[in-house]
Amino acid sequence: MKLSQSAFLAFAASALAAPSATTPQKPRQASAGCEAAVTLDATTNVFTSYTLHPNSFYRAEVEAAVAALTDPSLADAAAKVADVGTFLWLDTIENIGRLEPALADVPCENIMGVVVYDLPGRDCAAKASNGELAVGEIDRYKTEYVDAVAAVLKAHPNTAFALIIEPDSLPNLVTNADLQTCQDSADGYREGVAYALETLNLPNVVMYLDAGHGGWLGWDANLKPGAEELAAVYKAAGSPSQFRGISTNVAGWNQWDLTPGEFSDTSDAQYNSCQNEQTFVETFGASLEAAGMPNHAIIDTGRNGVSGLREEWGDWCNVAGAGFGQRPTSETGSDLADAFVWVKPGGESDGTSDETATRYDSFCGKSDAYKPSPEAGSWNQAYFEDLLKNANPAF
Ligand code: GLC
Repeated sequence: MKLSQSAFLAFAASALAAPSATTPQKPRQASAGCEAAVTLDATTNVFTSYTLHPNSFYRAEVEAAVAALTDPSLADAAAKVADVGTFLWLDTIENIGRLEPALADVPCENIMGVVVYDLPGRDCAAKASNGELAVGEIDRYKTEYVDAVAAVLKAHPNTAFALIIEPDSLPNLVTNADLQTCQDSADGYREGVAYALETLNLPNVVMYLDAGHGGWLGWDANLKPGAEELAAVYKAAGSPSQFRGISTNVAGWNQWDLTPGEFSDTSDAQYNSCQNEQTFVETFGASLEAAGMPNHAIIDTGRNGVSGLREEWGDWCNVAGAGFGQRPTSETGSDLADAFVWVKPGGESDGTSDETATRYDSFCGKSDAYKPSPEAGSWNQAYFEDLLKNANPAF
């Protein structure tokens, strides 16, 4: 092919201006972790020096969702969701296997978020997330689950980890003690959580124990018992050095600082001064301090972009009309709040709407719950697309 001189110059200029298909892409991160062992100081907010890692497991879910979009005009926005830092859930012994491959691309400046979630008799007050271990299988929880997670963390001393310990477990013991299932689970929850806190207390780890949300332990009557329940387990674990405080709003829908608050006009609102998560973090934080427990917090903002969707504060299952919320950041405006983080992977279901399923929970059939929805943890493409369309801030 012979080019005229002007055509050649035009070609050369465009070749310089735009990367060709063969321009090497900057690798996401070839090597994992830092060059030396990581030591985290849990008396400080590690999220000011580390960015929550956008993990490759969620990235793969989002990339598959982008390929399957019913509305192709959402493609560019949808692809950006994969770049948001999100926690990885280890919800079964088998799924611990998801952790090792997800550590291959964690750069030194990032912190890997992991949810520890497999207690015996899990999800005692609901059905959707009932787990694989039965009440009484505490030895399996310790040896096959917690010890196995600890082994992976120890094998990666150069990587920083933030752990959320057992969402909903101790809050259920505070408020659902009237249920036989929660009574049966109680000893295993306390022993299991203490064992996890003790065993996962490694230099490259910071730990946050789940504390429900403002509409749960935020009721006046629950603040002190809630703080005492959590503090007792923290102390039973030997007051571990890498323990930083609590997680709140995990898989939840509450607003951070909406005032006077989404449910402040209900008839019982006078009994709950924690009408948004900020007041909960501060009010419950004071109770935790009084009970002798570290009280800093991380807050799940993954799906709280839209408020006013729930009929009742306790509605938790696949709330229809929800949108992705605030992206992870350590700029929370509150000294007690270390960071806004994404914990529940947006697009994964909270529970099935199939009334014939063993794990069907009536909350997933309520009129404010999205239907149809698959089993908890399974991908719901239509719900993901709604979260994206309703995202606040938008993508
Ligand atoms: C639910 C599910 C669990 C899943 C998690 C994150 O709690 O029970 O299997 O990993 O949500 O989507």
